[in-house]
Amino acid sequence: MSVYNTTVFNAKTKLISGAGSMKELSGEIKKIKASTILVITDKGIKNAGILNQVLAEVQPSCKTIIFDEVKPNPCVEMTDKAFHSFKDNGIHLILAVGGGSVLDTAKGLSILLANGGSIADYFGFDLYKNNTLPIFAVPTTVGTGSESGNAAVFTDNKDDLKTKRLVFGEDLFPEVAFLDAALLKNMPSHLISSTGMDALTHAIEGYVSNWSSHVTDALNLHAVRVIGNSIRQATANSENVEAMHAMLLASTSTGLGMANSGLGMVHGISHAIGAQYDAPHGIVNAILLPYILEYNWIANPVKFSHIAEALRVNIDGLSVEDAAKAAIEHVKHLTKEVGIPEKLRAIGVDDSKIDLLTDIAFNDQQYMVPNPRKMTRQDIYNILKQAI
Ligand SMILES: [Fe+2]
Repeated sequence: MSVYNTTVFNAKTKLISGAGSMKELSGEIKKIKASTILVITDKGIKNAGILNQVLAEVQPSCKTIIFDEVKPNPCVEMTDKAFHSFKDNGIHLILAVGGGSVLDTAKGLSILLANGGSIADYFGFDLYKNNTLPIFAVPTTVGTGSESGNAAVFTDNKDDLKTKRLVFGEDLFPEVAFLDAALLKNMPSHLISSTGMDALTHAIEGYVSNWSSHVTDALNLHAVRVIGNSIRQATANSENVEAMHAMLLASTSTGLGMANSGLGMVHGISHAIGAQYDAPHGIVNAILLPYILEYNWIANPVKFSHIAEALRVNIDGLSVEDAAKAAIEHVKHLTKEVGIPEKLRAIGVDDSKIDLLTDIAFNDQQYMVPNPRKMTRQDIYNILKQAI
């Protein structure tokens, strides 16, 4: 980026990290003098006992109202319905305990509880008037990055065309994020690998994005390094607290990075598939990642060679171009090692909607513009054809 480009790095969230750091929750609640708290989570988190561990740190004098019905790929209808259920409760704080779907739902409710209407009214940038309600985020996966970002994603079913839409807000960052790997000791291996590969996708797409900057490069490239070092051990054993802690911090770092660098067409195509098939975001990204990297690398071979170095690929004696290609081969192996399938067909995506998926992804400017290599509609179609 030219020195004559003005860049802004936007951040707000206080990050409290360390195994056992949830014990800081009650002190943080006291600081903002919240007495009525809306707790957002899902049934999986509740059944795993994580919700109770978090609630044990909320002082008894606080009133808590629990919404545990968040579904994966949260939609407009669910978010609006939750708002109408809780709007008259005098809520001061939203405590979100879960993965990306939970954290994004919390952001939607923080807008609606302060502004009313439907979350669909706020698709876009900074379209609400009143300050949002504060959010405390407790991420329970190692991939969303939503705990340190200012965006939320919702599935919109308008006109029977399912698409994913984004809501951005200057102040939509959570106030505090608690990064406590001790909560994640029983996380299933497949969730660690899929959400961890989502974080790796954020880090790589953010690093090579057209909107990247000095600060986002530092956050995203370091996250590539940490995830490359830790994802295998974390996937193998969720009780490896050091590996899980490293993954959690890397996911949060790249969450902050991507909030400012944007992402690319892995996410552009993945959101189209996620909305149409209700497919798991991390797995779709992980499958698409090598195909998009193969398409993108010639736009910035030097940065791709940095990715190879960060992933500890031996690039001694290689040209920059060969080092860039070695990074892609390494990502392919890593994906396989952590148990992600190579083709979308394995998760039920076939050719039947390929034209629709292509059109949706092609029209998604949020990801097309920062993607380092320009893509035509035909390019997207070809990538989908290969990946299916
Ligand atoms: Fe993602």
